[in-house]
Amino acid sequence: MISEVEKRKEEHIDLCIKQDVQTGNTSWYNDILLLHRTMPEIDKNEIDLSTQFLGRKIDYPFVIEAMTGGCKLGEKINRNLAIAAEKLNIPIGVGSQRAMIKDEKQMRTYALKKFAPGIPVLIANIGLVQFCSGEYEENIVNKISSSINTDAIAIHLNPAQEALQKEGDVNFQNGFEILKRIVSVSKVPVIAKETGCGMIKEDCKKISKSGVDLIDVGGNCGTSFTYIETLRRKDRFGECFKDWGVPTPLSVMEANSCNVQTIASGGVRNGIECAKLIRLGASYTGFALPLLKPAMKSPEAVIEKINIMAEELKTAMFLCGAKNLEELKKVPVVVVGKTREWMEQRDLSV
Ligand SMILES: Cc1cc2nc3c(=O)[nH]c(=O)nc-3n(C[C@H](O)[C@H](O)[C@H](O)COP(=O)(O)O)c2cc1C
Repeated sequence: MISEVEKRKEEHIDLCIKQDVQTGNTSWYNDILLLHRTMPEIDKNEIDLSTQFLGRKIDYPFVIEAMTGGCKLGEKINRNLAIAAEKLNIPIGVGSQRAMIKDEKQMRTYALKKFAPGIPVLIANIGLVQFCSGEYEENIVNKISSSINTDAIAIHLNPAQEALQKEGDVNFQNGFEILKRIVSVSKVPVIAKETGCGMIKEDCKKISKSGVDLIDVGGNCGTSFTYIETLRRKDRFGECFKDWGVPTPLSVMEANSCNVQTIASGGVRNGIECAKLIRLGASYTGFALPLLKPAMKSPEAVIEKINIMAEELKTAMFLCGAKNLEELKKVPVVVVGKTREWMEQRDLSV
């Protein structure tokens, strides 16, 4: 007999593999124009993509985003992702560890350092709402991270997903106070993370005041978790929320107004989009869905996919005349269309 949580985890993967679960909000990247340099004045072969992530050197500004664990298929996917993360020297997150808290046997599906002890940063994952609803007390974060030896913990903020899930928890009261307490007790750095609906500056400022070390904006340009939950329901409630949320490039600009480094995830599908998000202010870019099918095959398939993104990012940087990520943050950019209107109304700049 498999548990309710394990069943849900398998359904999420199954739907992501078999259906188009992406939001329709994918065109926002087109409003951000990086300017081509016909005189780049740099050698493409000398471009450096390395950076620091929570004090560790990593080879690319990429994060393998939280996806799974807590089910049989999840173990295989996590293993392949972990080996790739180790080889590429980039951070990796596991999916929500609620399944492991409910059933200790599932711990092995999250314990990625046994497959890849050299992962530079392993990120634990748990939802804020489970603390708000009283299911967990703050101290559990140390058990969650130490049990699988992680270097950081992501607290996911997913009100839209919970609201659309038939069995979802929708009591997010006192979230800020609880996040503050989690940060104060956690022995590892804390990342506040959306799961596909993005963030605005009002929330980012609040989140940054809680003392978190990083914000993962999880914007609405890629995987639509609201739609995944709709597809799981017999009554198909909530389809109108498929595109709900703040698109990823806008979320990054919104987050710029607080003093916390950001990971830009949500619909990042090529290296030009990575370059755009870094130019807008993100320190790192993260991907989930594009790695799912490769991760079902092998670590090599994951590595191949990420290497293509890296080569595309390098090429975009070359054509913008940026020889490292610091220089990329300062290259000329033009913002047009709806994104420009958003920036004006929300008083944002790049
Ligand atoms: C199959 C799947 C499962 C996911 N499970 C989690 C999760 O347990 N916890 C979490 O914080 N985010 C989860 N996410 C969200 C991702 O970490 C990421 O923020 C989001 O999918 C946006 O990136 P993408 O468009 O590249 O997929 C999941 C995503 C996918 C595709």
